[in-house]
Amino acid sequence: MIENIQRAKDSTPLPTKEGQGEGAAAGVSPVTILGIESSCDDTSAAVIRDGYLLSNVTASQAVHEAYGGVVPELASRAHQQNIVPVVDQALKRAGITKEELSAIAFTRGPGLMGSLLVGVSFAKGLAASLGIPMIDVNHLQGHVLAHFIKESEVESSIPPFPFLCLLVSGGNSQIVLVKAYNDMQIIGQTIDDAAGEAIDKCSKVMGLGYPGGPIIDRLARQGNPDAFHFAKPAIEGYNYSFSGLKTSFLYNLREWIQEDPDFIEHHKEDLAASLEKTIVDILMNKLRRAAKDLKIKHVAVAGGVSANTGLREAFKDHARRYGWTIYIPKFSYTTDNAAMIAITGAFKYADKDFCPMEAPAYSRVAI
Ligand code: KG4
Repeated sequence: MIENIQRAKDSTPLPTKEGQGEGAAAGVSPVTILGIESSCDDTSAAVIRDGYLLSNVTASQAVHEAYGGVVPELASRAHQQNIVPVVDQALKRAGITKEELSAIAFTRGPGLMGSLLVGVSFAKGLAASLGIPMIDVNHLQGHVLAHFIKESEVESSIPPFPFLCLLVSGGNSQIVLVKAYNDMQIIGQTIDDAAGEAIDKCSKVMGLGYPGGPIIDRLARQGNPDAFHFAKPAIEGYNYSFSGLKTSFLYNLREWIQEDPDFIEHHKEDLAASLEKTIVDILMNKLRRAAKDLKIKHVAVAGGVSANTGLREAFKDHARRYGWTIYIPKFSYTTDNAAMIAITGAFKYADKDFCPMEAPAYSRVAI
């Protein structure tokens, strides 16, 4: 989880491409950051130069599909195989050599320890051999800052501070008040399962594949969201809970299967649509309340579950009904990627916020 990431120094604006032009004319070298992400089952590397993304390469690990979830030992082995070719590709696609790098940003945590260690060790070795600084990045801070990735001068909109970010992934469901790139406060979070975890587990119960999110999303488009009703939690404040929903889904399904052994096959679209609607309603109810209480109308969504069609539609609906300005990431920046690590690294580089060689990876501990 991101704990409250406090602003260390005033955030200096990122250098712009125009700045690079001026800088180049004045003989100033561009700032080129390599980002490395290996917190779970995606090995990713990206290059950002003067705030603009030059490459973003990700190798996903199909090996986990057969197990219905990520197997940590297999994940770290696959990272070991992937890390060198992925970084090599990222540099090639960016059209640069490693000697042109200004710093290396890497995911320090949270995540699977064995997976993190591959990226962290690789980043340390490369930074030491090049004699350049290392920048440690909190994976979840990276998800939030994915909204600041710039691909070209024709810009998609970037949220102004302060804004609210609903961070929903396989491991987290949080409402984050983002006051600055390095000043984030969690105002609500799940007290048990994450939204993505609940979707994946319900999908597993239905005998569908892994990860369940994209499968449920696809099926839900053909189903009736009001066909079935599942438990919604009553939790204090802006916090979430998804374990009751998961249990309610399982118990209902068991009963229905007793009456019709092929119940899932006969109703999988309606089950998916109803599950998705329940989760989206739970997420949006708390987010809407937080936005109202804090009087914030700039609202973003991030993390793997932000790829969900129903959630994206709910955001658009809230923009129309409540006058929100919404920020929805490109699909490639919803799930784990190194571009978000590189952009966070670029912000920290501007503040000279580097980390020492002995900085260890952390699986859960927040910064
Ligand atoms: O952010 P992420 O790639 O990994 C971490 O958990 O850090 O998120 C993965 C989660 C999984 O639970 C996956 O099922 C879910 O995001 N997901 C989706 C969709 N695509 C991925 N959930 C719902 N609808 C989707 N289209």
